[in-house]
Parts: sequence; C-alpha cells; structure tokens
Amino acid sequence: MKSKEYLTIARGDGTPQARPAAPPAAAAKPAPAAEAKAAEFKHIGKSTARVDGREIVTGRAKYTHDIKLRGMLIGKILRSPRAAAEVVSIDLAPALAVPGVLAALKLAEGKVRYAGQQVAAVAAVDEPTAEKALALVKVEYKLLPFVVDWEKARDASAPQVRDGKPNVEKFNEYARGDVEKGFAEADVVIERTYRTGFETHHPTETHGSVATWEGDHLIVYDSTQGVHGVRDGLARALKLPAANVTVIKNYMGGGFGSKLSTGEYSVVAARLARETGRPVKVLLSRRDNAVCVGYRPSSHQTYKVGAKKDGTITAFSLLNFASGGIAAGDEVSEPVVDVYKCPNCKVEEHTVFTNVGAQRAMRAPGHTQGAFGLESVMEELAAALDMDPLELRRKNYSTKNLGDTGLPYSSKGLDRCYELGAKAIGWERRNPKPGGGSATGPWRRGLGMASSIWFGAGSPGTLADLVLYPDGSVEVVCGTQDIGCGTRTHMAVVAAETLGLEPKDITIKLGNSDYPWAPISGGSLTTPSVAPAVRDAAVKAVERLKAVAAARLKVDAGDIVMDGRKFASKSDPAKSATFAEVYRDLRRETVFHGERGGMPMDQFAFNTFGAHFAEVEVNTKTGQVRVLKYAAAQDSGQIVNKLTAESQVVGGVTQGLSAGLFEERVMDDATGNVVNPNLRDYKIATSLDIPEIEIMFADVVDPRINNLGTKGLGEPARVPASPAVANAVYNAIGVHVREIPMTPKRVLEALKRKESGS
Ligand code: MOS
Repeated sequence: MKSKEYLTIARGDGTPQARPAAPPAAAAKPAPAAEAKAAEFKHIGKSTARVDGREIVTGRAKYTHDIKLRGMLIGKILRSPRAAAEVVSIDLAPALAVPGVLAALKLAEGKVRYAGQQVAAVAAVDEPTAEKALALVKVEYKLLPFVVDWEKARDASAPQVRDGKPNVEKFNEYARGDVEKGFAEADVVIERTYRTGFETHHPTETHGSVATWEGDHLIVYDSTQGVHGVRDGLARALKLPAANVTVIKNYMGGGFGSKLSTGEYSVVAARLARETGRPVKVLLSRRDNAVCVGYRPSSHQTYKVGAKKDGTITAFSLLNFASGGIAAGDEVSEPVVDVYKCPNCKVEEHTVFTNVGAQRAMRAPGHTQGAFGLESVMEELAAALDMDPLELRRKNYSTKNLGDTGLPYSSKGLDRCYELGAKAIGWERRNPKPGGGSATGPWRRGLGMASSIWFGAGSPGTLADLVLYPDGSVEVVCGTQDIGCGTRTHMAVVAAETLGLEPKDITIKLGNSDYPWAPISGGSLTTPSVAPAVRDAAVKAVERLKAVAAARLKVDAGDIVMDGRKFASKSDPAKSATFAEVYRDLRRETVFHGERGGMPMDQFAFNTFGAHFAEVEVNTKTGQVRVLKYAAAQDSGQIVNKLTAESQVVGGVTQGLSAGLFEERVMDDATGNVVNPNLRDYKIATSLDIPEIEIMFADVVDPRINNLGTKGLGEPARVPASPAVANAVYNAIGVHVREIPMTPKRVLEALKRKESGS
C-alpha cells in the first residue's frame, strides 16, 4: 500500500474531509509552557484503570462474536482450494436441498486468483447444517497455471497473475540530491540486502459480522476498525443510501490493520439476511484469517549507504521488491527518506504480484519492514566505521522542524528517546566490537538499538459531542471505536479532567456509525483524533456553564469556579449555584459539539518518534535467540492515559519480537495454499518469550499539533522492535542475520557465513 492511500483511508472514506487547518502560529509558545501545563493535570497523563475493565474481564462485554439475535441464521462461505482457475459452474441446488438451509449465493464468476477466494455461501439454521450444505455445493474449476512464490513470480516466464499485465510493477520512486556524488564523497560505502517475511495478523477475535434488516434499514454488528468506513462500503456494495446503514462495534478482540476496510463477509451476511428475512451471522475461521484477510507483505530491501569517517552519511539508495499477493505490496522507503538527514537519497520500489490473497495494512505498514532494513544497515555501517551505532544515529537523525519556526520539537522527541532508552538498557555495557561480548558456554550476549518515526497526530475534523443531562450526568458520544486500546477510558479521562469530575462519572458512547464522525481506529489516529475532539466539546461545555452560572450569580464568568457539579463565585463565596439550577438556565442548549482542530496531517511534527534497546543472548550451537531485557522510549507527545499507553508499548514490542524471531506464513508452491494457517504451525510469541520491558515516554509536548499535543502510539511501538533485536543479535555474534524471522536455522546460516568470511 502506498502511504498516501493509507492517509486517505485514515482521513475517512466518503466522510467529512479534513477541514483546512489554521496555519501554525508564527510565534508559537515554546514547549516548556505546555509541559508545565501538563503537570497540572489530575487525570490526563496519569494511570486510569479501564472504565470498562470489569465488563471485559467478567465476560459481560459483548463482542461481535457474542451477538445473538432472535431467529439468527449462520452463514458460511465456501472458498476456492485452487490458486488460479476458471469457475466453469457453481451448482447450489444440492446445498439448498438440505433441510434447514434457507439461502445460498454464488460469489464467484470468471476467474479465481488465489486459494481462499470466496466462491459461494449458504445460510442455515445452525453451523453443522451450514457446513454440511457448503460441502454439497458443486463447483467445476478449469485449472490455470499460478505462482505463489514471489521470487519465481519475478521471472518473465512465470504465469501472469493479472491478465495482460506483468507481475512486477514499479510503484514508487523518490530522489533528492545526487547519490552518485554522495557515494563519491564517502569514505566508507556498504551495500546490504535485508528481507522481511509474511506476517499474519491473527487477532484473537476473527473477522465477522451479524447483519439484520429493519425494513429497508440495514444494521450490521461488525468486528471492525472503522464503523463509518464499513457503513459507506456496505452502502456502495448493496446500492443503498448510506443513511440506511448502521454499523455497530462495541468491543473487539484486535485487528492490527486487517479490519480497516469493508469485509466481503459483511456483504455476504447482509445479502443472506435480505434474502432470508432473518438476521445472519458470518464469522471467519482461524484458517480464513490466514488465507483471505491479509498479512504483512514481504520485502527484499537492498541498501547502499555511504558515510564520511566521522559518521556523516553522504548518500543512501534503496531498491525494494515487495509482495502483497494480488494486491500491491507496501512502500518501505519512508524511514530511509525521513529518519536521517542525508542530503542524497534515491529510492526505487517494485511490487511483485502473486496468486495469493491480498495483503492488508498491518501495524505500521511499510515502516515496520523499512525500519528493519534501514536500522540494520545503520548498524552495519556503524561497524564499518568502527563507531558506536547510537552515536551514528545521533549524528544523522533528521532535524526537520515545524514550518519555519525554528523550533525542533520533533527532533527533540527522538533525541530524548535515545537518551532515555540508552540509560535504561545500560548502553555503556555494550561491547564495542560485534561478536566480542561476554560468553557463557555457547551463549553470547549483545546489545542493540533502533530508531523509528511514524505518523500519528490524528485527523482534523474528528467530531465528538458532550451531552449534559438534568440530573448532572454527562455523556460523551463519538463515532470512533475501541479496538481494545482503551478508547472509552481516554475519552472519560479527558472529559472528567475538563469538567472537574472523575472518569467513572462519564458515560461513553462509541462504536456506532450513527454517532459523529471519527476516523478509522488505525494509523495510530484514535487518541490524537478523539481526545482533542472530546477536549474541545468539554471546554465549550465548561465555558457555557460558567457563563450561564455567572449570569445567574451576577458576576463575571472569569469569577466562576466550577467544582464537580457546583458553581461558586471566587470573589464572593456566598454566591453559589447548583448544577440543576445552571442546567435549567441552559434551556435546550445541552449538547456541545467538539472538533479536533490543529495541524494538518502532512507536517513533519505530525510524526511520532521512538528508540528501542534490546539485550539478547544467542546460542551459537543451536541458533536460539533469547531476549533478556528491553527498553522502549516513545515520543507520543502528551500521554492521555499512562496505563493504556504502556499497554500499547507492551503489545507493539511483543508483536515486534514475535515477528523478529518466530512468525512467518509459509506458502506451498505446489498447491498454492498456506501451509501453516493455524496457531499450532504459525508461531506467535507467548508471555514466556517476552522479557521485562521498561517503558518510557519523552515528555515533549507540541501544543500546536492539537489542543492536547497528543500523538498516537499503537503503531510507533511496533516499528523498531525487530531491528533492535536483530542488531543486538549482531552485536552478540558478530554477523547480521539480515532476515526476519531470525529462526535458529537462519542464525546458524549467518554464523556459517561468518566462518567462511562471505
Ligand atoms: Mo493500522 S495497520 O492502521 O490498524
């Protein structure tokens, strides 16, 4: 996926576009003022337990999988076992003849292009009946040649995945300066190739929808990262007015990018429900999760980098081949373009099409792969220069700042992360020579680090309403969704902070496309979009309440103190009013509309920053890697809820270590199927594989980003994890593994390469 497309998705799809933001104030206040203000917060930036924690741990929270409606049918989808075929015929009659089957649909015509593509569907009274019927659907395929191995697909003689189009397509190029001149100026030039494999999302809750019709209005409960986008997608697919579609998502067991768009299964559920006149539930299986709802595309990144003896980087070039099946891969070049300030940089990226299901965005798409390549080559460059890799980064990190103000907030954030992380891991313990560290038997120890940037300052135009009730209760309504990150809690924290209440006093409504617009919960957008919108609504409510109380008490609004649900005059404490009195004076004006204003999404300060540090132990006999200690420092601006922010970092680091060491989806070239479409054969890290993680936040708050100066965190915490570990492995054994996952086999191969000196 191209990052520009990604930002378009993030901004919304057929929904209010970002309104033109006010230009950054020319003489903006320096950060210390904002930092001082942050210290005054009672709830914001502190640790607040999830307001819905009790619901979740007691099993009362209703996930899409838990939805049961009266008369609900079970829908099942038949998928192609063939990677490429002409669908000659589909006979639904035997399936429809099964008692208890109420509807069947043909879903494929013409060609199927990957194993797992949907072909037919049935709706039946229960799951066994649906399964039985599905097995009876007769499909005649005419087999066609296919290719699932992306390296074979590059060959000109390989079967064409897309009719009449080559399998390899250049999809990105970029250049600044003059790389040839830059390499000529360098004292040291190295060229290295790094690979990242296919990583599957595997959220705990698989994809799924429950669809029901009320007259001509469609209601879909969906396990999604974007209720508004799915509403629009369903409306288009079913040719309905968007106003006649409501998408609801109360709780979700993870998505990681695989649930950003409208699912084919959601459309199937809606069609089956329309045909049968009954609610229909379609849940995907664990296998489906591995074959038809995406994965992180692979990458094959060749970097050439030149530097002067003192570490000044003079030129970078990157040639990448990415593979995302029948969809384009990810651009991985943003890190090399943005993280370091090298004046000469050239990028060329190609995507390789294969007969494999389409990739989907996965937690920091592109950056995650790109950071592995870039941060690895930085490590190897440091070794070639005989320089400390942290110093090499400090010397070169981008100091692009915000507009022309000359205030390098962004750079300050990254620098602070370097400082915090290095201190936490004990960087001074690092042995300066790769492979020269301490050893216990076959085990070698090493330290490594990696830096990262990622977008994440939120979507301008996000809306939230704050509603006051006569009894003093407060509701905050926003059409965002909580995908497991604690959105309800941060909304309650911000409203409570602003109104002088406690988070538990606030009723949160979200996860419904009928509510005010918010972007997808992806792109690390949720908190920096929603929290400022809630803040804006709450500030407006407080201002209005104070003005009305002041009129009642015949004092200036500035003289009013709002304490919990009481109003009093500062100058004359005898003058006070109850919430009920002030509420009456509000008349009907009890809904306050908030919006996330602030900077547009394309400013450099929009970025979040991070630096991760790892200590590992590598067994030179078995190739096993153990991560012993980990330190993660993030700059996400103002942290809204420290507890859930730390959870994001734990999750991101865990996923990064898991992908770095274990996870890889394997394709069978003979049949075109996924070899390991389950959680037994696809290895994911468990808690026993994860070390102590020390988490730090750089308190660098730029108040111009949005009214809280808050930035995202979900994806940033994922980006530097795999390269930090790879670099620690390099430091331990003196050879870079250059491919993730760093399985024992690959570690041993790398050690052999070292012995043979190649
Ligand atoms: Mo993320 S890959 O935008 O869920």
